[in-house]
Amino acid sequence: MATGSSGVVIVTGAGGEMGHALIPHLLAAGKRVVAADLRAPTSPWPDGVRAATGDIRDRAFVKTLADAWGEGPIEAVYHLAAVLSSAGERNPELAHEVNVMGTMHLLSLAAERGTPGHPPLVLFPSSIAVYGLHDLDAKRNAGALHEEEHLDPRTVYGLGKLAGEELGGYYARYYRQLDPQGPRRAVDFRSIRFPGILSADTLPSGGTSDYGPEMLHAAAKGEPYRCFVRPDARIPFMTMPDAIRAIEAIAAAPVSRLSRRVYNVGAFAPSAAEIAELVTRHFPRARIDFSPHPARQAIVDSWPEDVVDHAARRDWHWTPTHDFESAFAEYLVPRITSRYAAAVR
Ligand SMILES: NC(=O)c1ccc[n+]([C@@H]2O[C@H](COP(=O)([O-])OP(=O)(O)OC[C@H]3O[C@@H](n4cnc5c(N)ncnc54)[C@H](O)[C@@H]3O)[C@@H](O)[C@H]2O)c1
Repeated sequence: MATGSSGVVIVTGAGGEMGHALIPHLLAAGKRVVAADLRAPTSPWPDGVRAATGDIRDRAFVKTLADAWGEGPIEAVYHLAAVLSSAGERNPELAHEVNVMGTMHLLSLAAERGTPGHPPLVLFPSSIAVYGLHDLDAKRNAGALHEEEHLDPRTVYGLGKLAGEELGGYYARYYRQLDPQGPRRAVDFRSIRFPGILSADTLPSGGTSDYGPEMLHAAAKGEPYRCFVRPDARIPFMTMPDAIRAIEAIAAAPVSRLSRRVYNVGAFAPSAAEIAELVTRHFPRARIDFSPHPARQAIVDSWPEDVVDHAARRDWHWTPTHDFESAFAEYLVPRITSRYAAAVR
């Protein structure tokens, strides 16, 4: 995974859902990992990981990350830390500082601490929140979106992700363009626009696609769930293992194969009612009702029904392993069931 040099691999937001799923893969590939997060780890990381606790808004903290394993170059940055969409609407200034300025701090660090001639990989998980459809009719008429369409985000989170994508492109092409030797390719920036992600192991918080995983985890715990969007609300989702596979695939792709820096990835695109129906099929005692929250509903209505991911399929052979049915039958339900059974034993 990642590039061929043997520097450190920095993972920001390491304590979050995606960080927990990604780090074991980095360790299995023999990487030395710096796991950075605002929150101290709740349990010790395994050998091969050094924890760094601090705020990516703090440039001085970010500068220390490269040295957590002693002096040496940065091989890759997996920049996962972010304030998610619903949390961002509650505090837009914080979201901008973390999602835009924090991203800039990590890009600057990677640009300054790579091996000369070997720019560090910077992997940036973007989101379908970069898209913005004006109303439900526009959403239904647009159908699945290509990467260039409807980039008119409704949330400060979506704006920040779009800015992060553009800043990454800037560091990859124009960084220090007024230097006498001209611009340098300071980072190898690659970004994936993820749909909502369903994990069996962790629960999200602060996102607006959270109704999918929340519905399922509540049913597995035997708790009632009140869904904050309408039954007909539809956006794309994928499983966490597929999200990690996508990260591994784009990170491993030869640069010559990449026709763009930012890629859509899709897997399945159920309505909230279809998720509730499948949850109820697997957990017949599930108690799910719908009580749409108008503002969160409006955000989901601005996100596309689905995405076109032809470029990812062509350039780095993206294919999800889970469709909607198999995501539940083969991954989510067995793992969630044993997880909560173990918790109550
Ligand atoms: N989970 C999804 O459905 C989804 C979908 C699309 C994109 N993404 C993106 O993937 C990435 C990871 O998402 P996740 O689901 O793991 O989110 P998460 O909320 O579980 O994890 C984010 C982590 O970032 C940390 N963080 C927040 N502010 C910080 C700061 N100022 N300094 C240092 N750390 C900070 C948090 O403590 C948290 O551990 C994010 O960039 C997110 O935007 C996630």
